[in-house]
Amino acid sequence: MNRLLIKNISQIATPLGNKALHGSAMDNIKIYKDAAIYCENDIIRKVGLTHEVLASVGSCSDINIIDAAGKCAIPGFTDPHTHFLFGGTRADEFISRLEGVPYMELLKRGGGIVNTMQKTRNMSCTELYEAGKNTLHNMIKQGFTTIEGKSGYGLDLTTEINMLKAMKKLQADLPISLKSTFLGAHAVPPEYKNNSDGFIDFTIEKVLPIVAKEKLADFCDIFCEKNVFTIEQSEKLLLAAQKLGLKSKIHADEIVSTGGGGLAAKINATSADHLLAVSSSDINKLAASTTIAVLLPLTAFCMRKDFAPARKMIDKGCSIALASDFNPGSCYSYSSSLILALAVINMHMTINEALTAITLNAAAAVDEAAVSGSIEAGKKADILIMDKSDYRFLVYHTGINIIKHVIKAGQLLF
Ligand code: NIG
Ligand code: FE
Repeated sequence: MNRLLIKNISQIATPLGNKALHGSAMDNIKIYKDAAIYCENDIIRKVGLTHEVLASVGSCSDINIIDAAGKCAIPGFTDPHTHFLFGGTRADEFISRLEGVPYMELLKRGGGIVNTMQKTRNMSCTELYEAGKNTLHNMIKQGFTTIEGKSGYGLDLTTEINMLKAMKKLQADLPISLKSTFLGAHAVPPEYKNNSDGFIDFTIEKVLPIVAKEKLADFCDIFCEKNVFTIEQSEKLLLAAQKLGLKSKIHADEIVSTGGGGLAAKINATSADHLLAVSSSDINKLAASTTIAVLLPLTAFCMRKDFAPARKMIDKGCSIALASDFNPGSCYSYSSSLILALAVINMHMTINEALTAITLNAAAAVDEAAVSGSIEAGKKADILIMDKSDYRFLVYHTGINIIKHVIKAGQLLF
């Protein structure tokens, strides 16, 4: 058995529980001082004051010990919304956007998602795997121990399946938990220009059954947005996917309010993501549902858009998670420290709410809250040790990565 003891931790800060926290409960963080965490194999067995944990562990010789004096421990982060697998990059578009060309205009001109689609279609499964591996290693250094990844740059049968297969292999080979999402309806490909209904039917009839049969994805997602896919098309695809066992996620109300947030609540989606333009009535619907609102501050920042109304949503009782949205277009970043800084400084979340949103609630947004997202006996030993003794430095030391050690499933990754 692999035993790990982290002792003399100046402070542990963690949300508690096995499911997403809503509204004011997001602010409840448990703080331990001079504490210890004892893990057996990949599971946390004991959390408490150092002397209590030491007494219960006794004196075994085969135990790995980390002395965390002067340091703070928090749960491993989850990133529940990324597009980390893709070909090429789009720096030119980033510059054009900053010069005033709207994101949707670039997509209409055949750039945007379709530009990346072309480069991704030219990659083999192995090339996708290698590119993804490199990104995931860098994301681990940012503290992410559970990561969601989407397909959506193939928009055809072969490449969509290749992307999901590359993720399966990454899941097997890398020391992280990887959840995969089928985003076959990310944009209308050139083959179906002016025929988005035909493309949705193709996705439902030809691609989805293979994704489900080969168990290639946990979730199905769609870009529900004006001039991309409608509410009706989104509902049709997501319900077809639910019938085949895939849970729902929606890119909702990112640019224009089309009611994606409300649809997510209506069909019991696991999450509704983006929500920069979410309406007040959809906020109420989300608050009354179990759907988690996944907010993506880096995307709003990189797109020079107003941030999602996090404060209002929490005050109304929504459950908020934070994610990077890492992709080659709207947000080429997965900086955990910047996500937290924007959430607290610009979106007016408290540091406690932001910590809950990037740990327990983020885990819930990929259906993992029962096994990870908090430092508690019985949960997976996914733990970050920080170079500071106070978790508030996560935001106070603005934009700086203060993560010293990443422990995933009881293994010290670095
Ligand atoms: O979540 N909005 C749609 N999809 C991505 C961007 C993808 C891209 O531009 O390549 C997003 O922001
Ligand atoms: Fe996205």
